[in-house]
Amino acid sequence: MSPSPGAVRELFRARFGGSADGVWLAPGRANLMGEHTDYNEGFVLPFALGQGIMAAAARRAGRRLVLCSAQSPDGVVSFVLDDLEPGRVTGWAAYPAGVAWALISAGYEVPGACLAFDSDVPAGAGLSSSAALECATALALTSLAGLSVDRRELAAIARRAENEFAGVPTGIMDQSASLLSRSGHALLLDCRSLETAQVPFDPAASGARLLLINTRARHELSAGQYGQRRAECERAARLLGVPSLRYLTDVADVGRLADPVLRRRARHVVTDDQRVLEVVALLRSPESSDRHVYPEIGRLLTQAHVSLRDDFEVSWPEADVAVDAALAAGALGARMIGGGFGGSVLALVRPAAAGAVRAAVAEAFARRSWTGPVFLDAAPSASARRVALG
Ligand code: GLA
Repeated sequence: MSPSPGAVRELFRARFGGSADGVWLAPGRANLMGEHTDYNEGFVLPFALGQGIMAAAARRAGRRLVLCSAQSPDGVVSFVLDDLEPGRVTGWAAYPAGVAWALISAGYEVPGACLAFDSDVPAGAGLSSSAALECATALALTSLAGLSVDRRELAAIARRAENEFAGVPTGIMDQSASLLSRSGHALLLDCRSLETAQVPFDPAASGARLLLINTRARHELSAGQYGQRRAECERAARLLGVPSLRYLTDVADVGRLADPVLRRRARHVVTDDQRVLEVVALLRSPESSDRHVYPEIGRLLTQAHVSLRDDFEVSWPEADVAVDAALAAGALGARMIGGGFGGSVLALVRPAAAGAVRAAVAEAFARRSWTGPVFLDAAPSASARRVALG
């Protein structure tokens, strides 16, 4: 069930007694283009989802942080702020604990507090529920402390929580999407300069729709494989004599890599960076409301999927089947999103074809006796914010 400020406040009251000082919401994200480009200092073009994680929070006396979650009904997690160290808190609570730790490490005063969370971002669906949890915590804790921290800095703090405290070696895309997006826009982020631009993105106005297909598959080894891809990209950059793959602007340069695996990895990164810029140019073109722009974007989405599947090799069978079935049923384009090895596919469809696309994907899964996919309509939404006062 979707979280509501009332429901999360009720959870707060039931677990902690008393009432929350406020409720903060941080959205999950989908990514229109630019996958595995963020840690290569490249471009990404994510957007915030309407789905997110809410935190009802209040200060408490003393130096403890006390957490509970509607998605983890087994009670509260509690720890002393000044004892926090990577590895001390595990499971879902590592993300909020990591944010407190990263804020303290950055020199900010973090007060003792109680936080209750509720979510409608499915976990493990590649929609960045962990970044949403981090960003909701970061906003709640800084607001409770009366701090105003620049959102770019907050994104960096939340990423540090994920990388160094929770031990997941991700890039900066997800936290940036949650904290910096604007409704009706995609967020163009240059992961080298960290400059951002809001790119108008309103598929509905051009007779298109974004359909998320949660394949409900999460394969073993995903964390290890992500780290391996990162290492391969770093090795490729070193061999080519550039600080990161972002510095390659001509895809022909990857031909200088003798190792065919590294060549494929680098080719994906360079071409996906280019695809981000192509999508941005299409969305910004004077004809952007034209019905022809979306088929072009769809074509680029499908091209990106092929690149992620064949060159970067992070796709998974359910994603490939979902993409093929969606395209066969008339989608303009489709691709896996996120880190890979499980999670969701983003399909761009004409509203008239949406029903047929859903049916075709569901049928393709049923034919293979796979767990049924879950469909979600996606709309470029607003970034993290306070949604209720105390
Ligand atoms: C995960 C990471 C991001 C990014 C994507 C792949 O979502 O959290 O930083 O690397 O994978 O694009």
